[in-house]
Amino acid sequence: MIRLDERLAAAASFVRTDKRICDVGTDHALLPCCLCEQGAVSVIASDVNEKPLEAARANIEKYGFADRITLIRSDGLRDVPPCDDVIIAGMGGELIAQIIGGCTFVTPDTRFILQPMTKAELLRRYLYENGFEIAEEKGAAVSGKAYTVMLVRFTGEKQSISDDFAYFGKCTDPRYISKVNSQLKKLANGDPSLGALIRKEQP
Ligand SMILES: C[S@@+](CC[C@H](N)C(=O)[O-])C[C@H]1O[C@@H](n2cnc3c(N)ncnc32)[C@H](O)[C@@H]1O
Repeated sequence: MIRLDERLAAAASFVRTDKRICDVGTDHALLPCCLCEQGAVSVIASDVNEKPLEAARANIEKYGFADRITLIRSDGLRDVPPCDDVIIAGMGGELIAQIIGGCTFVTPDTRFILQPMTKAELLRRYLYENGFEIAEEKGAAVSGKAYTVMLVRFTGEKQSISDDFAYFGKCTDPRYISKVNSQLKKLANGDPSLGALIRKEQP
């Protein structure tokens, strides 16, 4: 059985295995392989770089899913055919926003499962300003570092969001709250209004 870290396991928990799935920036393709173990039959594993694609190919062979996982070299979603569930994990928030901006097949049923390593606040602003909404967020921690994983869908309704929502989103995981609080403490030196967003933490 393939064991994913908590971050990728949280992403996997949002994926509908009976749909057309794409993992953008797949690297090792462990997530697509794990989704196949859970019953997925149509998965694209894409990456812009050849080296990660080689690692992905090796794992796909090792776990015996070459008949269900298609490897594609693509910059973002540029050369990816229409999919229902798109995972973009382990990249900066700006790059994730850029990749979503290049998506040509969005419908109200499309799901984006997003896990920014940085700039989650920028990604949340981008999403709402461009007609997406966050349905749910789950916290995860790997090697003591906290992350959020977002389940996102397209509504077409453009909205602006508060600073508080931009920074914390819908993630209530205490580990993530603590991480965002530390970020806000640093930013508060330059912008005191951000210091006011700092939340109470459990002792
Ligand atoms: C840090 S790894 C994350 C791997 C995996 N998604 C995870 O979360 O563990 C980032 C991967 O994204 C790929 N990548 C970076 N920019 C990309 C782009 N514009 N389009 C597709 N893949 C990209 C890199 O080659 C690398 O394999």
